Amino acid sequence: MRYVAHMDVFAVPFLFDTVPSHPKPHRRTMTESRPNEPDLRVSFAGIELPNPILVASGTFAYGQEVARLYDLSVLGGLVSKTITREPRAGNPPPRIMETVGGMLNSIGLQNPGIDAFLAEYLPVLREAGCPLIVNVAGEDAEDFVALAERVGREPGIAAVELNLSCPNVAGGLDFSTKPQETEGVIRAVKQVCSLPIFAKLSPNVTSIVEVAQAAEAGGADGLSMINTVVGMAIDAKKRRPVLARGTGGLSGSAIKPVALAAVWRTSQAVKLPIIGIGGITSATDVVEFLLAGASAVQVGTANFVDPWSAPKIIDGLAAWCRDEGVDRVSDLVGAMKTNA
Ligand code: FUM
Repeated sequence: MRYVAHMDVFAVPFLFDTVPSHPKPHRRTMTESRPNEPDLRVSFAGIELPNPILVASGTFAYGQEVARLYDLSVLGGLVSKTITREPRAGNPPPRIMETVGGMLNSIGLQNPGIDAFLAEYLPVLREAGCPLIVNVAGEDAEDFVALAERVGREPGIAAVELNLSCPNVAGGLDFSTKPQETEGVIRAVKQVCSLPIFAKLSPNVTSIVEVAQAAEAGGADGLSMINTVVGMAIDAKKRRPVLARGTGGLSGSAIKPVALAAVWRTSQAVKLPIIGIGGITSATDVVEFLLAGASAVQVGTANFVDPWSAPKIIDGLAAWCRDEGVDRVSDLVGAMKTNA
């Protein structure tokens, strides 16, 4: 699979004027359950999702570009690019690179800041017609609290995802590598925000299960896992790292087995619902994550390869269920058999 690594898709999200037109997928509402059609609806932390396929933070910007291609209401949900208190320009380039089976990024949380997000981006996002999850990150617990408090006052938002796991900024991993800090920040956020709180966890730890348990103890309503795996690329001729920052986060198909193992182990150890993330490019990938114990998934890097990935996967999941005689996709959650 070729990944789009020749342009900085995070900074200049997509040059969609050059993308050919594509018929908009059929708008399917949550209450519309057609006879003989598999029921794709899932309930996640009290949120009714029309299907289990969301788009992941940092791979869909704030929806504006893709909204020109298809009707976003077909999505199970949309997770915004991470928002911080102040605007951030991110890290200097080069900051993305294609790898075998994936991509490295070291964007560095480029975003317009919470004020601009609420004033300019959120009003448009509310029109998407699918559950909206706002992803936020802070340098300290106070930042997370302040951001969650402001987001929680806004109508039209289904949940807040705490980005505790960005590997591309100083201290970005602290809240998902030290279980006590994970628990503390979530506990603090829960006191000021009544929306469901999802903790986005890092695979760059010895035991992601311990961190997940800490998130549960802190009162998280759900887990998003996994964020990217710390990785590096080196230009042998120049004898230098390819990315200006040296290392970045690896995503895409290459990390799917890591993500599946993390979801499976964690689902055995906590009661929280899990959103599986990591290298999902097909309906079969979705089914694997559901069987491993995820109740929903986020499609990420695949959006850069094909911006229609998510609706194609949603249709593919319905077809998979029909072929396999599965009436309700929720019946697949945690249904993996063990090897005798
Ligand atoms: O660098 C970035 O903006 C990526 C964020 C993340 O992986 O959470």
